[in-house]
Amino acid sequence: MNHEPVKHGFYVHAITHEAAGIASFEFRPNAGSVAPPIAGAHIDVVLPNGLTRQYSLINAAGETGGYRVAVKRDARSRGGSQFMHEALRVGTPLTVSAPRNNFPLREDARHSAFVAGGIGITPIVSMIERLVALGQSWELVYAVRSRRDAAFLDRLTAGRGRAHVHVDDEVGGAFGVGAHVQNLPANADVYCCGPAPMLDAFLEATAERDQTRVHVERFAAAPLEPRRGTFVVELARSKMSVTVADGESILAALRNAGISAVSSCEEGVCGTCETAVLDGRPDHRDSVLSATERSANASMMICCSGSATERLVLDL
Ligand code: FES
Repeated sequence: MNHEPVKHGFYVHAITHEAAGIASFEFRPNAGSVAPPIAGAHIDVVLPNGLTRQYSLINAAGETGGYRVAVKRDARSRGGSQFMHEALRVGTPLTVSAPRNNFPLREDARHSAFVAGGIGITPIVSMIERLVALGQSWELVYAVRSRRDAAFLDRLTAGRGRAHVHVDDEVGGAFGVGAHVQNLPANADVYCCGPAPMLDAFLEATAERDQTRVHVERFAAAPLEPRRGTFVVELARSKMSVTVADGESILAALRNAGISAVSSCEEGVCGTCETAVLDGRPDHRDSVLSATERSANASMMICCSGSATERLVLDL
């Protein structure tokens, strides 16, 4: 934990139009081989403009020579998707991390049910292809506003599965996540990736299910209440103590004290800053850990989470 993701020199090998406002980008290494892509994993992409963004891998099964991601151009882009769409060209050099998986696929599930909204289909494409390769049972609802927004349809129709595309403007309304989830088999592993309102509805509808079988991936941090209160972080390995002020992040407090710590998104969605907790109880505010992982309190994201106890001991 808290390993700096190994970053390598890559270049843009291909750019492909996938759907309205969605392009896929294939990155290949300048030299050597790369860590194999994993279904559901994401990579950090360090863009030539200095921004770092996380994108889910869409590699096909067995495609190992590089990494492929798909990016939707966001009208409110803070420079990530806009730069990807406007400035990247075939041949542009960039830096890419090894894959990190916060959205693992349970390959031995009796049945896997996916709900994807818009660009939230990206991690799910590879997960479904993996299940198809394993001969496992799955189903998908892929909700889009209009048919021109739907990407990767050709990759979602194989195997022992069932893909249903819900097109809002063809059926006159948004997909009802809650009612759909109620009808899924109780022993299914259920997955959701999409916009925040969809994820919130999914989590509400799955609250009574076995939480080890409920899996979500957020692209942006959930809205957070501000952290409150001062607490002390003890660093077990460095044998140092740092006071974290009201509203301050642990990461910021460490840096203010001259202690370096790795991070990427700094809003609780990528998992880069995950740190082992040795004592105390974190106030988890991230979008990475599952409910089960949160209650185990074995690790935390120090970029966004605080402490529910006056003292927190970290493996740093
Ligand atoms: S830096 Fe991304 S979760 Fe903390």
